[in-house]
Amino acid sequence: MEAVIRCWPAVKGETIPPEIYGHFSEHLGRCIYEGIWVGNSGNIPNQNGIRLDVLAALKQLRVPVIRWPGGCFADDYHWRDGIGPIESRPQTVNLWWKQVEPNSFGTDEFLQFCEVVGAAPYICANLGSGSPREARDWVEFCNFTGDSTLAQLRAANGRKPPYQVKRWGIGNENWGCGGNFTGRDYAKEYMRFATYMRAISPEIELLACGASFGDYRNSVQNAWNREVCDELRRVDLVNHITLHRHFSRGQGESFSDAEYYALFADALSMERDIALTDAVLRDCFPDRTVGIAVDEWGVWHPEAVPENGLEQPNTLRDALMAATVLHVFNQWAQRVSMANLAQTVNVLQCLAVTDRNKMFLTPTYYVFDMMRLHGGAKQILFQTESPTYEARPVGFDKKQPVPYLDVSASLSGKKVHLTVVNKSLTEAIEAKIEVREAVIASVSGKMLHGEQPGETNSFKSPSRIASRRIRPTLSNEQPVQTFPPRSFTALTITLE
Ligand code: AHR
Repeated sequence: MEAVIRCWPAVKGETIPPEIYGHFSEHLGRCIYEGIWVGNSGNIPNQNGIRLDVLAALKQLRVPVIRWPGGCFADDYHWRDGIGPIESRPQTVNLWWKQVEPNSFGTDEFLQFCEVVGAAPYICANLGSGSPREARDWVEFCNFTGDSTLAQLRAANGRKPPYQVKRWGIGNENWGCGGNFTGRDYAKEYMRFATYMRAISPEIELLACGASFGDYRNSVQNAWNREVCDELRRVDLVNHITLHRHFSRGQGESFSDAEYYALFADALSMERDIALTDAVLRDCFPDRTVGIAVDEWGVWHPEAVPENGLEQPNTLRDALMAATVLHVFNQWAQRVSMANLAQTVNVLQCLAVTDRNKMFLTPTYYVFDMMRLHGGAKQILFQTESPTYEARPVGFDKKQPVPYLDVSASLSGKKVHLTVVNKSLTEAIEAKIEVREAVIASVSGKMLHGEQPGETNSFKSPSRIASRRIRPTLSNEQPVQTFPPRSFTALTITLE
């Protein structure tokens, strides 16, 4: 098959927020405990309790932001349980994920973890079972610059200067595990929390819980954003509204060809979710910018259930889907202000899998590594002529044309970043890449692909699916690149 990709580096759009390349770590299964935090228990190399292998992998990705402590866990988390001497912290019940919570990883451990990774923290406060006072006290503990008792407590626990946590969510999925609210009732609660959290730390950005549309037939979800934003429009207390989206077609490693192709079509329904949310925001907040924070997203296979701590195989197909969805976020950079893949280590579509002192990286890790240069770069105008297939995205009545080649393009300095997914199961696609109104100095690239879409990495073959350098060629001073089936490619085109 053949395709053409044209781009115009001189025609620039929005800056792509680096936070689109963010992650999410919940107290769930082996994400925090074992995956990130091993304490001082001995044989797993660590820095102040954070395992070194995971730390190095996250540093390499330059992770911009990490969301914590949940998820559903957040609305039953009481932050005071997780501060002070570790041996005196209570053992509490992790209600949603049916575990005992030792509380040894708490606020200071999370914020110090973010600092060593180089990521900004994003904390989700407890609206469901907590109180406005508990939430505003948490902000005070983290951010207060004066000499209050909570600031002294922070210092007594080893941290004198404030952490200055900028992003604070107020509840998670409050139409469900976060308290089963209606949109209007949630908004009223939100305003109580937001008023006092903002007053104690005026610089913070606040995130309100938004809808998760799923199949678009759920009347609570369909009404949620409208009800919440109708209430919030009269106060200046919201910076972002959240959106969650998980994708599932067939089993993790075993799926039909139709399920393989349908998964990528679901990126169209991700776009529809963003467009539906965007329409409400434009209507309710015509004079200010409220971003969409897709603060939980990713592939969720049926194998991942609470009984196994939501663990699932992480395949090449999942990685290609991650790239396709990140392309959607790049395209919506004027509205999507942050996104957080669920969940960093061991759980759902993770970046790394651990077993005692061993770790391997998933194919999805390499997609984030190859795409991170889009973060902070400017969108540029591009156009793709690609062969298409037809599939019906979740929630659509009819099949839609889906391009085999999925592209995103951005510019930083003199470098054009072009990322390309070839979704075809069987066909290579040769693409002419036309860089218009610019002269190319050089091209380099990396590629991720495999023999089967259900392939994974494992402790035995940790690098079966890993990015490799490629040497793109020029023909008449323009790149011509063959994209193998089931592949993801990142090209850096340096301009003169
Ligand atoms: O990511 C796992 C769970 O999925 C989160 O706790 C919840 O917010 C979502 O439904």
